[in-house]
Amino acid sequence: MKKQGSDGNPAPVMPALPEPLKDLKIKYTKIFINNEWHDSISGKKFAVFNPATEEKICEVEEGDKADVDEAVKAARKAFELGSTWRTMDASERGRLLNKLADLVERDRLILATMETIDGGKLFSTAYLMDLGACIKTLRYCAGWADKIHGRTVPMDGNFLTFTRHEPIGVCGQIIPWNFPLVMFIWKIAPALCCGNTVVVKPAEQTPLSALYMGSLIKEAGFPPGVVNIVPGFGPTAGAAISHHMDIDKVAFTGSTEVGKLIKEAAGKSNLKRVTLELGGKSPNIIFADADLDAAVEFAHIGLFYHQGQCCIAGSRIFVEEPIYDEFVRRSIERAKKYTLGDPLKPGVQQGPQIDKEQFKKILELIESGKKEGAKLECGGGPWGDKGYFIQPTVFSNVTDDMRIAKEEIFGPVQQIMKFKTVDEVIKRANNTTYGLAAAVFTKDIDKALTFAAALQAGTVWVNCYSALSAQCPFGGFKMSGNGREMGEYGLHEYTEVKTVTIKIPQKNS
Ligand code: NAI
Ligand code: MG
Repeated sequence: MKKQGSDGNPAPVMPALPEPLKDLKIKYTKIFINNEWHDSISGKKFAVFNPATEEKICEVEEGDKADVDEAVKAARKAFELGSTWRTMDASERGRLLNKLADLVERDRLILATMETIDGGKLFSTAYLMDLGACIKTLRYCAGWADKIHGRTVPMDGNFLTFTRHEPIGVCGQIIPWNFPLVMFIWKIAPALCCGNTVVVKPAEQTPLSALYMGSLIKEAGFPPGVVNIVPGFGPTAGAAISHHMDIDKVAFTGSTEVGKLIKEAAGKSNLKRVTLELGGKSPNIIFADADLDAAVEFAHIGLFYHQGQCCIAGSRIFVEEPIYDEFVRRSIERAKKYTLGDPLKPGVQQGPQIDKEQFKKILELIESGKKEGAKLECGGGPWGDKGYFIQPTVFSNVTDDMRIAKEEIFGPVQQIMKFKTVDEVIKRANNTTYGLAAAVFTKDIDKALTFAAALQAGTVWVNCYSALSAQCPFGGFKMSGNGREMGEYGLHEYTEVKTVTIKIPQKNS
């Protein structure tokens, strides 16, 4: 019999968790263009820190506009008709992506340790979840490489008409620090399987795993210029990508504020295609008929996972009145169970926030919650004497007008609200500028289906939370973004459709 998980489903196949590497050497700190490592043209470097210790890990070459220009030239050359990449069999592109997946699997321990040191992610999470997702995403996209095809179209008149799904061209990809490697793979894998070339800018807080990937991309055998990686800051290297006249598409994950800048830059330059995956303030609705244990646990993980630094965080929890007090009580009990500390250490369940800026933003929002009259049930302040740790925090008696109910906190801070009726909670759940994810917990199928239709969000979960996988399209309604990533829908964002029409000669004409 297949082993069962606690929810009754077959337990996911997970590798055993090894110990993190003791003495990780950082080998790749330069700009990766044309499968070669370069110093920055300006000669500048920037420091990369471990958020758990605030210690400097290393310095990385700081890319700016001039380096982006070089990377774009390389990517353009690799994309030219007749290039090795463009003439390569589609199945060979798939083989290269599978080879890259093999190499990530081989170096899983190095990459997971790196994610932990650079980004403060729990080692177990990095190794099992993030690296697992990276490998699966690469293999998923590898499988698509030779299955991307157009249609024949029954055009009026005597014509043969068919569509070609062609790669868009050079894609600029700007990624955040909360899932450095997963976001790198979510960006490059669909782009490459469709035949594009890319220039990636990792977040300034977490460039190390992306640069390591440069070495694996070269080792896998991708032709020079297909993947280029330019570490640097947003307003310089990032803006150079979004304004570039020779970049055909930009894909971005990060704040709504910067998402707007990117769209504006595309409008002011060459109207490049733009896909955006931005923030959220996702509602999680718990009805009194739900399995309470499961709802408390999913609501908890849906918020506290990775220190609350997830775009999908279920940060507005609406609980039906009859179970409100019990739900709050259990949520506090759950949040108090945490062991904070060095995310490399076994047994630690919560690591640091990414940097001082995020740390300060979160503490400021906690203060606003207290001032505006929410009830602080536990936590509410920093933890420890070094590193950017914040105590797991639960607020009850939260009302919709409070800042903590409206703004993306991106920290371990849970907001619990009360509701009475279906109509009321639908209105309140949708009363936000965001629309990334939403969830409902109920045993009533009619209610579940009503919410699946009524909630304005790119993803709706019923009786679960945070379930994501490479096959499923992901993205936002409203100001949570434009376009979708992953799944077959995600591939549409990396292809242009060309209509080819051929006149068929007719007898007697
Ligand atoms: P951000 O949006 O500034 O950073 C994300 C990426 O955009 C980084 O690579 C950064 O260098 C780049 N960037 C920044 N300014 C840019 C510009 N003018 N042009 C082009 N690229 C630019 O996000 P930040 O400051 O790290 O975090 C602020 C807030 O954004 C967080 O507190 C959170 O609320 C949200 N956020 C959402 C994420 C998500 O997964 N959707 C990820 C990271 C942050
Ligand atoms: Mg920023």
